[in-house]
Amino acid sequence: MKKGSLISGMLTLILFAGVLFMSSCGKEGPAGADGTDGVDGNMVCMECHNLENKANVHMQYEMSQHHEGEFVGYAGGRQDCAKCHSNEGFIETQYTGADTTASADGVPYPTAIGCVTCHSSHSTFDFENDGDDYALRGTEPIKLLADNTIEVDFGGSSNLCIICHEPRRTGPTPDANDSFFISSSHWGPHHGPQGSFLYGVLGYEFDGAESYATPGSHAHMQPACTGCHMETYSNSKGGHTWWPNLDNCTSCHEGANSFDVKGVQTEVHDLLVELGDLLKAEGSIDADGHPVRGTFHIDVAGATYNYIGIEEDRSLGVHNPDYIIALLKNSIDAIK
Ligand code: HEC
Ligand code: HEC
Ligand code: HEC
Ligand code: HEC
Ligand code: HEC
Ligand code: HEC
Repeated sequence: MKKGSLISGMLTLILFAGVLFMSSCGKEGPAGADGTDGVDGNMVCMECHNLENKANVHMQYEMSQHHEGEFVGYAGGRQDCAKCHSNEGFIETQYTGADTTASADGVPYPTAIGCVTCHSSHSTFDFENDGDDYALRGTEPIKLLADNTIEVDFGGSSNLCIICHEPRRTGPTPDANDSFFISSSHWGPHHGPQGSFLYGVLGYEFDGAESYATPGSHAHMQPACTGCHMETYSNSKGGHTWWPNLDNCTSCHEGANSFDVKGVQTEVHDLLVELGDLLKAEGSIDADGHPVRGTFHIDVAGATYNYIGIEEDRSLGVHNPDYIIALLKNSIDAIK
């Protein structure tokens, strides 16, 4: 039922009851004036705002790693980490500025990323004319954390993802001896560099046989994060689980039956193994693939940065096939 007709229906009932009451007193009062019409009921609101949808979204969210928040206890309160690893840290650093992450104790009671981490208020209620508005906190272009001269724009919802899914550090720069000091076994871009790979920046770009396309020109700019990870929910993937869903690929890659479209994931996997073996021989990564503290030739350090970043991107090339394959091939050629 439309909200408007609900309201006028209730008004009619009240008037009707009033009339009954008065007639039972024996005095016939004049008929009441018509109630004003309710606002035209916005069925459009109910597309998202209904109990069934809410239950579904919650059910999906509970399957997600955001909800799981495995590292909230470890990183959700800490300075430098909280801004991406907890609800409180993200909102404080990005929006309110009441930044308790900067204090020595950090965020006292960090909680996992949830509805209000990503959603706040609508900017419009006129969905028919203004388009879908998911009440998201940020859909504006993002200046990257590791290099704020680079502005990334996936045009809408996916810009929110990059604020957290981006590298924390740029690649190595050479000292006077063409060397670089790898300072710890945690060195590298950091676990979630998906945003910069998708855009096609911040890899350590060796001049080599393979060229690098103009940043932002890649075909997957268009589905972007939400197109592959959220659009369709099916088989416990996509939607608010955020797990990539094969059903989101087939609209463009007709008949694809795995993420290994045209064998790209297999190719990237093989190149990673080849590069990993070379780096182990150089001593810059250990048997588990973690960086080793020490001073290395800049080419080895650059190739190590690419190796760790592409491993931690975890799409095996899908995020940006051409860029990721070019980085791997040029890294291998540089240190072979
Ligand atoms: C710019 C945002 C950002 C910052 C800052 C950040 N992280 Fe993360 N971190 C992420 C994202 C995103 C993931 C999940 C990436 C994925 O699973 O692919 C992650 C994953 C992790 C993981 C899990 C790795 C694994 O193997 O699954 C650990 C542990 C972690 N971060 C620790 C830290 C610590 C400690 C700090 C502070 C020193 C920190 N992070 C700072 C974004 C960030
Ligand atoms: C990590 C960020 C994030 C979190 C956490 C999150 N959402 Fe969303 N949500 C989004 C994005 C992004 C979209 C828009 C997707 C698009 O553009 O297609 C969205 C869309 C929606 C929609 C409209 C689409 C639909 O499926 O009906 C609803 C409703 C919604 N979210 C509710 C919730 C609720 C409730 C929670 C908590 C259980 C939640 N969201 C948690 C990012 C998030
Ligand atoms: C495209 C999906 C979508 C549509 C359509 C939609 N909403 Fe929302 N709305 C959301 C999401 C997502 C949130 C934030 C998550 C939550 O609160 O569950 C939200 C939050 C709200 C909130 C609380 C935050 C705020 O902005 O004050 C109000 C009120 C609200 N919606 C009203 C409306 C009304 C009224 C309409 C119709 C004119 C409407 N919504 C249509 C998705 C939608
Ligand atoms: C507030 C920061 C933040 C935002 C915004 C965010 N993420 Fe995450 N995301 C994380 C962190 C941190 C993790 C790892 C959680 C953990 O294990 O504690 C993660 C985990 C994930 C994972 C699971 C990876 C794994 O195996 O651990 C996927 C997939 C993912 N995010 C996709 C997205 C997408 C798509 C968006 C945008 C709609 C998004 N995220 C928005 C911080 C964020
Ligand atoms: C073209 C589709 C596509 C786009 C665009 C895309 N992803 Fe992915 N993503 C994938 C696929 C496919 C995987 C790897 C799944 C596998 O092999 O298991 C993946 C893996 C991941 C993972 C690791 C989770 C896992 O399943 O192991 C995270 C986190 C992630 N993507 C986040 C993002 C973010 C953030 C963006 C936007 C900056 C993004 N993705 C854009 C398809 C996409
Ligand atoms: C909106 C359309 C769209 C969606 C959705 C999409 N892709 Fe693509 N993808 C493309 C286009 C366009 C190319 C470039 C094809 C070319 O250059 O011939 C491409 C290229 C690729 C490539 C490189 C191999 C090739 O065909 O050139 C892989 C691998 C790939 N996509 C995997 C995926 C996976 C996995 C998903 C789902 C998780 C996905 N894509 C979703 C449009 C899309």
